[in-house]
Amino acid sequence: MKVDVILGLQWGDEGKGKIVDYLATRYDIVARFQGGPNAGHTLKFDGKKFVLHTVPSGIFREGLINLIGNGVVIDPITLARELRQIEEAGVDFSDRLLLARKAHLILPTHRYLDLASEHAKGKEKIGSTLKGIGPTYMDKTGRNGLRVGDLFEKDFEIHYNTLKEKHLSLLQLYPEVEFDLAAEEAKWMEAIEVMRSLPLVNCEYYINGALDAGKKVLAEGAQGSMLDIDYGTYPFVTSSNTITAGVCTGLGVAPQRIGEVIGITKAYCTRVGSGPFPTELEDEVGELLRKEGQEFGATTGRPRRCGWLDIPQLSYTVMLNGVTQIVVTKIDVLNNFDDVKIARTYLTDSGLSSEVPFDLCKTPVGLELEIFRGWKQSLEEVHRFEDLPEAARNYLSVVESWLGVPITMVSTGPERNQLLLKS
Ligand code: GDP
Ligand code: IMO
Ligand code: MG
Repeated sequence: MKVDVILGLQWGDEGKGKIVDYLATRYDIVARFQGGPNAGHTLKFDGKKFVLHTVPSGIFREGLINLIGNGVVIDPITLARELRQIEEAGVDFSDRLLLARKAHLILPTHRYLDLASEHAKGKEKIGSTLKGIGPTYMDKTGRNGLRVGDLFEKDFEIHYNTLKEKHLSLLQLYPEVEFDLAAEEAKWMEAIEVMRSLPLVNCEYYINGALDAGKKVLAEGAQGSMLDIDYGTYPFVTSSNTITAGVCTGLGVAPQRIGEVIGITKAYCTRVGSGPFPTELEDEVGELLRKEGQEFGATTGRPRRCGWLDIPQLSYTVMLNGVTQIVVTKIDVLNNFDDVKIARTYLTDSGLSSEVPFDLCKTPVGLELEIFRGWKQSLEEVHRFEDLPEAARNYLSVVESWLGVPITMVSTGPERNQLLLKS
């Protein structure tokens, strides 16, 4: 068997959680492979809403294994809080939420360092979620990190204190950053006890063994491809590989074990935090997208920046990820627009270009926009792809032909079942 992948093709928040939750019943295992509590994946069903940050979005599907893979960074406090909420919802996950021993731990001081780093950048700040993601991955690549498996070592506390002291000495450079370490540390110590009670696995053996045994695995991406540490709009990115390649390192599977790559895009585009965004609308149209799409961050509550769909950007991420199918979400958000635009090509100093330049921060691009007639109707009563208004079908079929990849699903609302499958 192979690992199918679901990931975001834009700057995050494409609706990955909803689609993973929907598709999860077709799989035996859902696994997060990178990122951490910077993610906020929203699930809505049976009149309930959950926002998951660390736990995979297959947790509400009975009997399904959910794995937090080795490429993920875990904040024990957030994880414990999330587990409490899931428990309160009456979901039993005791033997089906697995943690990879090689996943790294976010310490309270990692969060303070994140804050210090943003402070130091001033106007140039990344707009981080301040969950400690960057500093934790820095300690991982700097070979100083603490891993889930270390929680069971005799000298865990010694290593924790060494790392904490290192962080505290760095934090002395930022006296303006205030924190109450004692209170957070107490919560953290309590939360690692919760982690100690969860089943652990050697992720690479576990996943490969499961695939050999014929199990179906779905890898759930966090963030979006334009936030990838290598290929995103650096430095306004996150600190992990959010693209398909991240599945191989984040779960320990070889490239030839990757199956379908399902790329998710909104029917328009959003970004939260700083950094270049070629199709951003800083006018009343952008305001309307934000209002209709309720575009406020699931993790931080910040308003999301909104703009039109960007074909050079999407072609770039389709290429990077080897996307085999596309899911378009939030098409209903465009219901009230007279017309809808798509950036077909970029205009640069050297003419038209369909490539994302080396540095979008330093080379802003102009846009060649194509205009489409809106459909001006509710999609509430549309339950089959064929019943979408003609203007909406036209919009989707143009996107499909420009990207050269089939659109297989279209989401028409936040609820689990508001999804049209294209036959
Ligand atoms: P994720 O991080 O990719 O999982 O996405 P988020 O949960 O951060 O943001 C997506 C938001 O859009 C959530 O509030 C979802 O409930 C909502 N959503 C998902 N699909 C649709 C859709 O088709 N239409 C509408 N109106 N909302 C949607
Ligand atoms: P999901 O999985 C949208 C953005 C932050 C910031 C940059 C770096 O819900 O799609 P970090 O906290 O990683 O240091 O922030 O990345 N960012 C996200 N934007 N959705 C996310 O996750 C994000 N995770 C991080 O806003 O610009
Ligand atoms: Mg999100």
